[in-house]
Amino acid sequence: MTTLVIGAGLVGSQVARLLVEDGERPVLMDRAAQPKAIGEIVDLAQVALIAGDILQPADIAKAIRDHSITAIVHTAANPLLTLGAQRDPFGAINLNIMGTVNVLEAARVAGVRRVVVSSSNVLNHFLAGGEGHGDPMNEEGFPRPTTFYSATKQAIESLGLNYARWCGVDFAGMRYGAVFGPWSGDGGGGPSNVVREAMRRALAGEEASAPAGAMEWVYSKDAARGTVLALRAENLGTRIFNITMATLTTPRDLADAIAEVVPGARVKIETPAATAVSLPDMQSVSDQSIAKKVLGYAPRYDLVAGLRDLAEWMKARG
Ligand SMILES: NC(=O)c1ccc[n+]([C@@H]2O[C@H](COP(=O)([O-])OP(=O)(O)OC[C@H]3O[C@@H](n4cnc5c(N)ncnc54)[C@H](O)[C@@H]3O)[C@@H](O)[C@H]2O)c1
Repeated sequence: MTTLVIGAGLVGSQVARLLVEDGERPVLMDRAAQPKAIGEIVDLAQVALIAGDILQPADIAKAIRDHSITAIVHTAANPLLTLGAQRDPFGAINLNIMGTVNVLEAARVAGVRRVVVSSSNVLNHFLAGGEGHGDPMNEEGFPRPTTFYSATKQAIESLGLNYARWCGVDFAGMRYGAVFGPWSGDGGGGPSNVVREAMRRALAGEEASAPAGAMEWVYSKDAARGTVLALRAENLGTRIFNITMATLTTPRDLADAIAEVVPGARVKIETPAATAVSLPDMQSVSDQSIAKKVLGYAPRYDLVAGLRDLAEWMKARG
């Protein structure tokens, strides 16, 4: 079995690490790989790192053919996720939707068994409408995404489910909470970078900032573990999974957790006016029961454990 991991960033590099720990030699494909950052997460000697662009269908087909790929984990997305898509809607729509269609289509043609795609927990939070209360005969039966990024993720899920329904592609979509974790390269979303910067500042003895809104997080190692569980599950049955810490973190919680991990840390909570579109004030926690029942997923890292692991990693690399 050889897995193609597309997108070698914050999450993709952790997926590759877990696959290596399982004894696999995964193929990591990225159009702009950052080998130094990837090498800090997974031993580059244990993976095949290749260049490839999901907007070029031939690149995906070649990777599948050259490496006898049997399963795909697709984590590539537009730079800076929610924030990036608000700035460049066309680029994000093209990459997230057509790039994913290219991956699903290549899997269909080549007969790749399973395709696990990174969706996002923004689909649980960035929503408006639904006054028709789930009545499909009503124009406002269902809430709709309120950002370009979440609209692309909704399209990806719908298209993946139809590739499963009609084409035999064994699709799964992973709705991660906002991800933070070890990563020294560019990438991740706005919230990922906010936590990284806050922890860097706290460790350097500088004042750190916590965003004003409540958030639902997941540690990158848990996001990757949920993804690998979906890759390995015998029968999926259901195909969309919430993968988060299963808690709502208030700004005070985040500030306290940073201070618990870095004693004496000073953390300022941003005023709501500074809150970016990617850092909303979330109101509720995603239901993890399907991920638990079908995949056996439960988060191993709560906020303090995740921040502690991140701090250890940052200290180890100086
Ligand atoms: N980071 C988060 O907070 C978060 C939260 C929820 C969901 N997600 C989703 O998880 C997935 C992984 O996120 P991440 O934080 O690891 O992102 P990341 O930016 O760290 O990694 C994405 C990688 O995809 C690569 N890529 C971009 N376009 C490509 C293309 N055309 N062809 C090949 N590679 C390409 C980039 O070079 C990058 O290395 C994404 O789909 C994202 O939408 C992330």
